[in-house]
Amino acid sequence: MVSDSVTSGFDFFEAGELPTPQISVAEAELLVAEQFGVTAVARSLGSQQDANFLLSDAKGLPIGVLKVSNGAFGEIEVTAQDEGAALVAERLPELRVATVLENIHPGRPSRVLRPGKPPEVARIVTFLEGGTLTGSSYLSPPVVEGLGALSGKVNRALTDFEHEGVHRRLQWDSRHATRVIDALAHHVDDPHRRAVVERVRRVEGATIEELGPLLPVSVIHGDITDDNVVRSGDEHGRPDGVIDFGDLNTGWSVADLAVTVSSILHHEGGTPTSTLPAIRAFHRERPLNRDEMLALWPLVLLRGAVLVVSGWQQVAVDGDNEYASSAREHEWRILENALSVPTPVMTALVQRELGEPATPLMLPGSFTALLEGPLRTATLDLSADSDAMDRGAWLDTGLEAALAAAALAGGADVVSTVHLQPRLTRSPRLSPEEPANAATGIDVWFARDTAVRAPWAGSLQVDPGHLSLTAAVDADSAAGLMLRLTAEDTDAAAGDVQAGDPILTMKAGTRLRITVSASDVEVPEFVSSSERDGWRAIVADPFPLLTGGRVDEGPAHDPDDAEQLVHQREQHFASVQEHYYRRPPRIERGWRQTLIDTDGRCYLDMVNNVAALGHAHPGVERAATRQLRRLNTNSRFNYGAVVELSTRLSELLPAPLDTVFLVNSGSEAVDLALRIALATTGRPDVLAVEEAYHGWTFASDAVSTSIADNPNARETRPDWVHTVDAPNGYRGRYRGPDAARYADDAVAEIHRLAAEGRPLAAFIAEPYYGNAGGMALPDGYLAQVYAAVREHGGLAIADEVQVGYGRLGEWFWGFEQQGVIPDIVTIAKAMGNGHPLGAVITSREVAERYRNQGYFFSSAGGSPVSSVVGLAVLDALRDEKLQENARDVGRHLKERLIALAEKHELIGAVHGSGLYLGVELVRDRATREPATSETAAICERMLELGVIIQPTGDRLCVLKTKPPLCLDLESADYFVDSLDHVLSTGY
Ligand SMILES: Cc1ncc(COP(=O)(O)O)c(C=O)c1O
Repeated sequence: MVSDSVTSGFDFFEAGELPTPQISVAEAELLVAEQFGVTAVARSLGSQQDANFLLSDAKGLPIGVLKVSNGAFGEIEVTAQDEGAALVAERLPELRVATVLENIHPGRPSRVLRPGKPPEVARIVTFLEGGTLTGSSYLSPPVVEGLGALSGKVNRALTDFEHEGVHRRLQWDSRHATRVIDALAHHVDDPHRRAVVERVRRVEGATIEELGPLLPVSVIHGDITDDNVVRSGDEHGRPDGVIDFGDLNTGWSVADLAVTVSSILHHEGGTPTSTLPAIRAFHRERPLNRDEMLALWPLVLLRGAVLVVSGWQQVAVDGDNEYASSAREHEWRILENALSVPTPVMTALVQRELGEPATPLMLPGSFTALLEGPLRTATLDLSADSDAMDRGAWLDTGLEAALAAAALAGGADVVSTVHLQPRLTRSPRLSPEEPANAATGIDVWFARDTAVRAPWAGSLQVDPGHLSLTAAVDADSAAGLMLRLTAEDTDAAAGDVQAGDPILTMKAGTRLRITVSASDVEVPEFVSSSERDGWRAIVADPFPLLTGGRVDEGPAHDPDDAEQLVHQREQHFASVQEHYYRRPPRIERGWRQTLIDTDGRCYLDMVNNVAALGHAHPGVERAATRQLRRLNTNSRFNYGAVVELSTRLSELLPAPLDTVFLVNSGSEAVDLALRIALATTGRPDVLAVEEAYHGWTFASDAVSTSIADNPNARETRPDWVHTVDAPNGYRGRYRGPDAARYADDAVAEIHRLAAEGRPLAAFIAEPYYGNAGGMALPDGYLAQVYAAVREHGGLAIADEVQVGYGRLGEWFWGFEQQGVIPDIVTIAKAMGNGHPLGAVITSREVAERYRNQGYFFSSAGGSPVSSVVGLAVLDALRDEKLQENARDVGRHLKERLIALAEKHELIGAVHGSGLYLGVELVRDRATREPATSETAAICERMLELGVIIQPTGDRLCVLKTKPPLCLDLESADYFVDSLDHVLSTGY
């Protein structure tokens, strides 16, 4: 390995062990008083090699950080660090950098002379607010990306820095990694860990030995890690400050990135692929060349190994250094985690990420087909896109074999799966991790007993359950390739074979797994979608080997699907129609409470109240398709379904609500309800509650004042709309028992408007406050308000679009909870289980008054298809006892969430009933400061854990918990456990 020839300072290989300077808090306080004239209270901050203290004034305000460098380092080296920091600060004004506080000690640092010690250099540097990323909590993708960008920027800023003090031989200089490991590995007492370290040293050391001379060298920071950066105040807490330049030295430039990447790996949820945003961001700031791309992962592993051996050494040297001993487990985690994806796979992923994709592994140009033809082959599509996955079929573990048998019965000689296709059949319904569902090989079934031949000459090894054929060394076209055949029982015999020799007989109907890989990499049977493209460099598609045919394109899945789709969406879809999530998965399938993306990942859907019965409900599907085959027209024709639906709806409501208008959405229903009120009373004025959402049409939007849906809602309200306070007993003007006063205020407003000569046409409100996160209105609220409205001849409209239809569990309608009967009810959402359906239900008397508006017609409202869908939903609600399920599972869910609130301060309240719950997150339970950015971050992290949940309310600090009503207990528990995990480990 290259070594830095000029060493003007410290040489690790001569100095060996490096005990931390032992300086007490009292000594530190004395030191700053004597040397810098600063009176301060000192608090020790951990460090592995130096001594660091936070200095505060009498009021507790930070003054700066005292850094006492290890006596092993000379003044010239410390000066280099300080000057390097100053240069970075100057060149990167957008960053915060801990530089020497010139006002305290201009010029040179101070020497500390302690009896019996080498001189130590002390100085006070800026204290940066924000906190480091130290610890093992989760780092979100924006933070990971920010860390990589920071590392790249600092690397770039230092490229041409020169100083006498940057030619040291440091333990952390990756150019000496193998030497450091050789010198320190004996400290690792754990035999397994030691063996791992030695293997990494051997394998990755060999790669770096080759690449090292090709790598650009510059002055590098060498330690941009989670411990040495501080968070900014942005919504994601991305790092924007650098606090320690102690490892500044000459080194391979790419080593800066390797160090940064390795520091991500010990964090919760950190995986090799989760570091890719940091790599991409570094590359944007300081582009890597191809050699650096190839060297990166080996350097990450060597860094991990150096950390492990150094950690053991540090503990051996000064065992009482708590910092070093607690770091030891983190360091092991880094190495273990970095090893979880083979280096060639990670390297291929890095290359792909940085726009220089590696060459995929190819089959040899010539080979003998495994099977003697001609044969009819069929492809087995096991992706989430396959029709074979309909109606939850994928949950059946025997599906793969059953589909293969069906294809064989249909006349195929051979059936094959698709190489690296994410298989829905391998995806658990509830899983915190991305499933390993993409097979590195293909599975093949045969219609009859079939002989399998060697595709090339080589040596055949037979183990129980599988055989592997490594190409003969002289078979140059297949050299370096390994064919692996796995079957239940094999009749094969080991030994040398020639191309075309029969090596195995497969029985009819049995499965053969075929994998072709680079012979020096261990290949798992299944890998995850995020690793899949890296594996293409290691495994080849074996399909052409079967018959010598071409790869059947099959239902190929583009791995960039989801991202590309968002991009395409932006081309022609109005941007005000926003999408969930920063990087939304591509969801193309749903089943009950599960949503499934095109990588076959399953998500628990906790947000879709529209799909009240669950996704892809068979009853709805049957009703709609059957009706589509027969008739779909408008309600001016005389057909049965519209009559039946209207009858069934009116039967669900108390008298006198017996007359139905059918429309296509909640907005239309609200709009129509307002027009009916206007027609009935001949007045324009309407009273609504603040923070409500009722729809997007002109009138429904006018009565919506939720600023989460429209930031200008309050200013743009027309003068016929009046509002009263949101009757929010948790965070509004009146709280707890005082919440009863909201009704008094509303009543006073109604009387005031009447007295002003503007008596109301209507009062509109959700009867259970959905938009506030599923909150019950104060007891008696609607009774008082409805009475006052009616006293002046106005109508009461209950918007049941969200909360009605059984969701509340205890009550089918929200107004039942308040013990009132409205004059007009609006419904939608659940009514069509996703099919566009809405309705207004009122009394005959009120409905008749609409005559003065002309007649009412909606082209698709109440169409035959919509009507049968509406009926199918009502049937399923009844037959599947979904209201009862909402009550029982909802009660369990609410109890568990309330228990969770005892553990996590962030949960301020759990609102709601049945399966309309709201988990309100606050920064402070006393002030109820909304935890808005936290809620957004939690939703993003929940997605990673396979849960779809979204913020709601005007402050976007409530987790709106309104899953399909078929939610089971296991899923409810999964949701709570995931939330617990996120609140415990970070977001
Ligand atoms: C209470 C309420 N009313 C009306 C609507 C409008 O319904 P749609 O989106 O079907 O037009 C919504 C939609 O979120 C709603 O929550």
